[in-house]
Amino acid sequence: MNKFKALLIGACTAGLLPAAGVAGPDDDKLMVNDELDLATEVAAPAHLDGALGSTIYSGWRFRTDETQALQLDDFDNPAMLTVDAALDAFNTPDGSEGKSCASCHTGGPEEFAGLSASMPKVIDGKLVVMEDLINSHRQEVMGAEPLKWSGQEMQGMVALIGLQSRGMPVNVAIDGEAAPFWEQGKEMYYTRYGQLELSCANCHEDNWGNMIRADHLSQGQINGFPTYRLKQAQLISRHNRFRGCIRDTRAETFAEGSDEFRALELYVASRGNGLSVETPAVRQ
Ligand code: HEC
Ligand code: HEC
Repeated sequence: MNKFKALLIGACTAGLLPAAGVAGPDDDKLMVNDELDLATEVAAPAHLDGALGSTIYSGWRFRTDETQALQLDDFDNPAMLTVDAALDAFNTPDGSEGKSCASCHTGGPEEFAGLSASMPKVIDGKLVVMEDLINSHRQEVMGAEPLKWSGQEMQGMVALIGLQSRGMPVNVAIDGEAAPFWEQGKEMYYTRYGQLELSCANCHEDNWGNMIRADHLSQGQINGFPTYRLKQAQLISRHNRFRGCIRDTRAETFAEGSDEFRALELYVASRGNGLSVETPAVRQ
């Protein structure tokens, strides 16, 4: 991975080093709208070979009570405004063919129940993420402009489709045609990037449960994406989060929508196989 050039900035590594002795995940239960019980801890998938211990945890378990509360009720969840806007867009014609998503998907977004839990996946030899499906439909069958990857229209639509799988276990395939992409993503996960020479694993595998600066470090799961980040006051894509984390190591990073980030998305998703889809989650 020599693509990442360490930036020649004086790094204050001390601030990024974890402080020992802080507790792991809390014991709170994630029950949405008093009716939907989400699994925020499950047995670790076999392919991890014990790298995260015997149990994997959703990032929700590492957040403060105040942040957690915003995900307990859809009326309090700030992501839902963007999801509602996406539902309007789903029903509104756009592009040269005068069609909306609903013109063909007459069952509404509910038609896509279960789909997000199995994404990314290989279609016609290419590793495809949800943003690809949305934009290919817009361009090929609607004659509409592609949506910007991390824009709110796109992430709202990704979240709307993801919401249809909320509560279902993440279950991405890592074998067969997916295997080479998964291997590529795994290699990226363990590559040390940037001037700080830190890999994803150095933080999210070796130090989850510890504090980094003011942040309680989670296992870096993506079962809640797109997530609403309070700091940015908007829905954040998976690739945007990857970029942010790599930037924190003072490295240049891959682009959103790059093949590298598709592969990384598959690998990171597979580390959460078994956790409930939480989309749209709320984070600090
Ligand atoms: C002209 C008809 C048409 C329009 C308009 C259309 N789709 Fe589709 N869509 C299809 C058909 C047919 C399929 C199944 C075959 C395929 O995957 O291409 C499909 C499949 C999909 C899938 C994959 C489902 C799966 O289980 O693999 C997604 C996601 C999707 N559409 C989303 C959208 C969204 C979002 C829009 C609006 C931006 C949209 N589509 C607009 C016809 C359409
Ligand atoms: C310097 C330490 C560090 C490195 C290296 C790092 N991260 Fe993070 N990451 C964080 C911190 C801090 C947060 C915010 C607290 C949390 O959610 O764990 C975070 C959050 C995340 C989240 C959001 C989790 C959630 O529940 O919303 C994901 C996903 C993630 N990181 C993935 C990655 C990936 C993939 C890599 C490698 C490309 C990576 N991180 C590298 C520190 C790091």
